[in-house]
Amino acid sequence: MRHLLSPTDLSEKEFFRILDRAREHRNNRALAKDALAGKSIALLFEKSSTRTRLSFSVAVTEMGGTPISLEAMQLQLGRGESLEDTTEVLARYCHAMMVRARDHRNLEVMAGMNRIPIINGLSDLHHPCQIIADYMTLEQLGFSLHGGLRIAFVGEPNNVFNSLAVAASYAKARITIASPRAYSQIHPAIQQELTRLKTEFQQFTEPAGAVRDTQVVYTDTWVSMGQEAEEETRRKDFADYCVTTELLSLAASGHVVLHCLPAHRGEEITAEVMEKYKHSIFEQAENRLHAQKAILEWIFGIL
Ligand code: CP
Ligand code: NVA
Repeated sequence: MRHLLSPTDLSEKEFFRILDRAREHRNNRALAKDALAGKSIALLFEKSSTRTRLSFSVAVTEMGGTPISLEAMQLQLGRGESLEDTTEVLARYCHAMMVRARDHRNLEVMAGMNRIPIINGLSDLHHPCQIIADYMTLEQLGFSLHGGLRIAFVGEPNNVFNSLAVAASYAKARITIASPRAYSQIHPAIQQELTRLKTEFQQFTEPAGAVRDTQVVYTDTWVSMGQEAEEETRRKDFADYCVTTELLSLAASGHVVLHCLPAHRGEEITAEVMEKYKHSIFEQAENRLHAQKAILEWIFGIL
């Protein structure tokens, strides 16, 4: 049984197979219109979601399956039923589960039961479905994933950055990150992966250092879901970590800006930069749909 909790649950070959297949889905929305016939896919959310919810719902529907969107708080799970019992019951009704989890360890518990394929639709540690769409977008925009790609991330090293970084070795990319010193700790499990994968990786506290001469500048919110209590402090601490036109003047010519969305104009990105790079950013959002289809095919072993 397959699970996708982190990009490294895929081999490099599987990663590229998914990107290729996602491109085929992009070119033909009806490519696999019966692939999930008779299958029900649970989409369980412990946190809010627009893109992940919609792209999975539409992907499953277009593949002939039935998506079932579930809010954790509306299940008995929200009243204390165990995660294990919930997973066991869902495994008896559904054929796969996408889970947006507060705690990555919950995904490990669910996947460890091996009762139903588990797809990570974002946890505190990883966002594999997002970065598959991101690398797909970069390839579509003409960047090579076979050597020489330079990516800078401006913001906190959490879910989106972690997945982008561990997949960077597959995409033969060098990755840099700029974050305030107090937020610069890389999760030990990610550090271990970066070392194992021999990822070309460098950390900066100044955005300029990370962005200089890069082809891709990626940013994400200063206040991730679940960090709302720290909102005010984070706004102050990250004030110098906004992707501005001035900062981008240091990037390589022909660079693009990526953002997983939702965006906060005037915080991690200016309204001007959002407007100028809306093409790459909204392609990323669209590609979530095509990528989810390829991910679902992989999870069911039909890719
Ligand atoms: N990028 C992303 O995962 O968006 P949602 O939170 O809207 O799903
Ligand atoms: N880092 C953000 C990503 C949202 C898609 C969060 O966790 O809220």
